[in-house]
Amino acid sequence: MSAVEDIFDLKEKVVLVTGAAGLIGSRFCKVLLGAHASVAAADLNVQKVNGMLEGLGENKTRISGFEVDITSSSSVQKLVEQVHAEFGALDVLVHCAALDPKFDQDHKNNHHVSFEDFPLEMWQQALDVNLTGAFLCVQEAARVMKAQGKGNIILISSIYGMVAPDQRLYQAGSFKPPYYSVSKAGILGLTRYVAAYYANSSIRINALSPGGIYNNHDKEFDEAYSSRSIMGRMADISELDGALLFLASDASSYMTGANLVVDGGWTAW
Ligand SMILES: NC(=O)c1ccc[n+]([C@@H]2O[C@H](COP(=O)([O-])OP(=O)(O)OC[C@H]3O[C@@H](n4cnc5c(N)ncnc54)[C@H](O)[C@@H]3O)[C@@H](O)[C@H]2O)c1
Repeated sequence: MSAVEDIFDLKEKVVLVTGAAGLIGSRFCKVLLGAHASVAAADLNVQKVNGMLEGLGENKTRISGFEVDITSSSSVQKLVEQVHAEFGALDVLVHCAALDPKFDQDHKNNHHVSFEDFPLEMWQQALDVNLTGAFLCVQEAARVMKAQGKGNIILISSIYGMVAPDQRLYQAGSFKPPYYSVSKAGILGLTRYVAAYYANSSIRINALSPGGIYNNHDKEFDEAYSSRSIMGRMADISELDGALLFLASDASSYMTGANLVVDGGWTAW
């Protein structure tokens, strides 16, 4: 049993983070480095990953960037092979990559298509990234973990995998699209399926379900969202750090098939 001060330590653990260029993935890479892990930071947008690595300054020794398209089995396979070749193991997969339509000020995009007219092509493309992408990453990670005899997988779901989006938050006719809820619920199903499939082994898998993270949202959105949260506010990005370290480390060694909810109470009422 670990000493209390070492319980969240990830020394000698190799962690692969997908979606490493994103809001949560880039934060997670830094937190994992801080807990002494070696980090493989993968994303479709490898330039953005490299920019993040540049920003780390002196702390770049235990992290490398990788390009991956999670919708392609050959790309995911190549990624896992590269990670294994560079670091010699894959202890933890933290799967953050997804299409997550944003409503902050940096993403003034088009979410105005009605449910009835929601394009099939967009639905299929999103499920390809959010569900098939998760399946492929878990499949390839599990292959290495099975050969190693142990492994730990964390999939990022959302409050919207558990409850429907309150579309009243998304003003002026825009709305959170159907694929988001469906794919995030699917992530919870995949978590339970894989946990049960690897019963009686040392491979475990859990989901982490955050609520909305404040990232320069409009005042109106922030206020509307916050009024629906028991804690009366959106999350600060740092408020996922503890949950990540808990799931990634031996502190959660008796957890598999579970969903850790960090949502300020959003789903409790
Ligand atoms: N931000 C939030 O408030 C919030 C809340 C709950 C859950 N989540 C979930 O957390 C995870 C990360 O969210 P985020 O806010 O960091 O999103 P983000 O959009 O900032 O990052 C997602 C990353 O995934 C990458 N990606 C997309 N398609 C890819 C592909 N085909 N191959 C490889 N990489 C690809 C993107 O390039 C991007 O860097 C997502 O699963 C999201 O659904 C986010």
